Amino acid sequence: MIIAIDGPAGAGKSTISKLVASQLNFQYIDTGAMYRGVTLKCLRLHIQPDEVSRKIESMQTEIRMDGEKIFLDGEDVSQEIRSIEVSQAVSAFSTIPAIRLFLVDLQRKMAVDQDILVDGRDIGTYVFPHAEIKIFLTADVDVRAKRRFLEMQENGGSVSFEEIVANIESRDRIDSQREMAPLKKADDAIEVDTSSMSIAEVVAQILSLVETKQREGMNH
Ligand code: DC
Repeated sequence: MIIAIDGPAGAGKSTISKLVASQLNFQYIDTGAMYRGVTLKCLRLHIQPDEVSRKIESMQTEIRMDGEKIFLDGEDVSQEIRSIEVSQAVSAFSTIPAIRLFLVDLQRKMAVDQDILVDGRDIGTYVFPHAEIKIFLTADVDVRAKRRFLEMQENGGSVSFEEIVANIESRDRIDSQREMAPLKKADDAIEVDTSSMSIAEVVAQILSLVETKQREGMNH
């Protein structure tokens, strides 16, 4: 079974996804981390977005996901990909078809022979259009920024609230306006607005959707 969870930055996708995946014993795939990993590599090599198509082959990038960790060319970059520098650059790099094709291919290979829960922007619309369950997670921009701010403070970050609001708004704009596989609710996705819901409530709602789906599957 494939569960696709899409939505804008800070809607709670990764928090919710980790909890639901562990309850169901599904493999969790954080596709945002993969785009962040490639972005980090480009920043380190001083490669500009408009140079990536030419250079992606010779970059020989290896992205490996292991539980909640991400390895870039063998190095654990799970912390570094969350920096504000990567957050500010990732949407621009994510518009580039060469990067998307490289990562989508990897994501589809990871789905072979296992139950997975995948979160991102284009999972229900593009990567796995036949996913059995599609959720579109949203929340008001203020709520999303507040959640990110608290999360970054807990991790010892010193980014201001205004910087986070600006980053979220700019990413929403670039992610939903890009040409290839933009952020968009799939027609058959269920929208869940988490603005005034607790984490436990969102998790419970998704688990109950999965249960209903599994019951329907057994009756067919
Ligand atoms: O989920 P996240 O905030 O870590 O994602 C970081 C960026 O990666 C997001 O702003 C756009 C890009 N992304 C994407 O284009 N497609 C995906 N499936 C996942 C993320």
